[in-house]
Amino acid sequence: MLRKISFILLLVVFTSTFVSAQKKLGNETDAQKQERMKWWTDARFGMFIHWGLYSQAARHEWVKHNEHMTNEEYQKYFDQFNPDHFDPTKWAKEAKAAGMRYAVLTTKHHEGFAMFDSKYTDYKVTNTHAKRDLVREYVDAFRAQGMKVGFYYSLLDWHHPDYTMDDVHPLTQVDTSQANYDRLNKGRDMAKYRQYMRNQITELLTNYGKIDVLWLDWSWDKGAKRGKGEDDWGSVELLKLVRKLQPGIIVNNRLGLSEYSDGGDFMTPEQVSTKELEPYKGKTWETCQTFSGSWGYYRDENSWKTHRQLLDLLITSVSNGGNLILNVGPTARGEFDYRATNALDSMAYWMHANDKAIYNCTYAPAEFKAPDHTKLTYNPQTKRLYVHIYDYPADGKLILPAYNGKVKYAQFLNDYSELRYTTAANGTDLELTLPKNKPPYNIPVVELTLQ
Ligand code: GLC
Repeated sequence: MLRKISFILLLVVFTSTFVSAQKKLGNETDAQKQERMKWWTDARFGMFIHWGLYSQAARHEWVKHNEHMTNEEYQKYFDQFNPDHFDPTKWAKEAKAAGMRYAVLTTKHHEGFAMFDSKYTDYKVTNTHAKRDLVREYVDAFRAQGMKVGFYYSLLDWHHPDYTMDDVHPLTQVDTSQANYDRLNKGRDMAKYRQYMRNQITELLTNYGKIDVLWLDWSWDKGAKRGKGEDDWGSVELLKLVRKLQPGIIVNNRLGLSEYSDGGDFMTPEQVSTKELEPYKGKTWETCQTFSGSWGYYRDENSWKTHRQLLDLLITSVSNGGNLILNVGPTARGEFDYRATNALDSMAYWMHANDKAIYNCTYAPAEFKAPDHTKLTYNPQTKRLYVHIYDYPADGKLILPAYNGKVKYAQFLNDYSELRYTTAANGTDLELTLPKNKPPYNIPVVELTLQ
């Protein structure tokens, strides 16, 4: 009897898992989705921009949470905000030069401050010394440079009077008792906050023309005790609204709708190592990464990634079939800090010479094994295979394992100079001869035209 019950239970669990994996909100086919996302998968490289009142604290965009500030204590940043050097055309030009093809700006972060002129709040940029809709200026400037434009919008809101308590709210950090939650939640109404979000997202998706990406942030894992998700945000209805307002838009996966196969367009591995990107091969994803540790401008942080680390992130993303969105946290004056500009310049230098190994590329066909100390990317349309040389061989020999008969021509990508090769003694490998002097790129790229 017991056995029978557990069998039935197992069957129920199995069937429900199976059925839930099939759940769908819309009726788009895989081919239609691929077509809708084509510009994005081809682009491979984007710029994240985290900018808000927290840029003035200059010590992390979570400063309100980290320091348990009340709205009153945080008000000084609103009163002070005056980004007198804001020049989004300059931003857009830097992003474009670095090889980025799209950008995503924080229109509202967890602090709840609207960087746009919203009808539904006074807590907005047009009421500060800035007096302008900075989101509009960003959209216009990036579009004018031929970049795709995206909006980040925080589902969390640490300012709104109807937003209920959860485990990261600044007001729950000291006293985590349920009694404190209950006390603080008095008079708060998530239904009203949900409507507020819908209203603001509607504004963002109707008043600024075509928006290419929407980056909603974030939901707790299912089952978290005092964290929010699908039901709190009204995610199903929200996503339907988004798709209705902007049918072509690409939406990330942080609405907590993982039981739906179309509950988000791409996965968002955050601040992971290059090793951790490998399992994402074959999926649709974008890894989001900072130059240093924080997203918002952090003056005293010194752990900036090196040029090589940034390059490795970009190459490894593409070699596993994904995108990289690299974050800049502009200062309170509205500028990219010199460290960010240096990092972008170094990417610009590399991308100018090697971007063909990034755009429209993905992982190599299984028959091609990466030679030692290299990573591969591949353009399926042009049938070019790109060998990214991480350690330049001192003897100038690069063994291409079992590539014999598969290659038509070899050259450096940076200057299209021919590289000669011969069949190795084993009859299956190719032996490529590289010049003594390494080309002046941290990671040079060999382009192989395949048979
Ligand atoms: C996290 C953080 C947030 C940042 C985001 C970017 O969810 O809460 O500060 O904006 O990641 O991926």
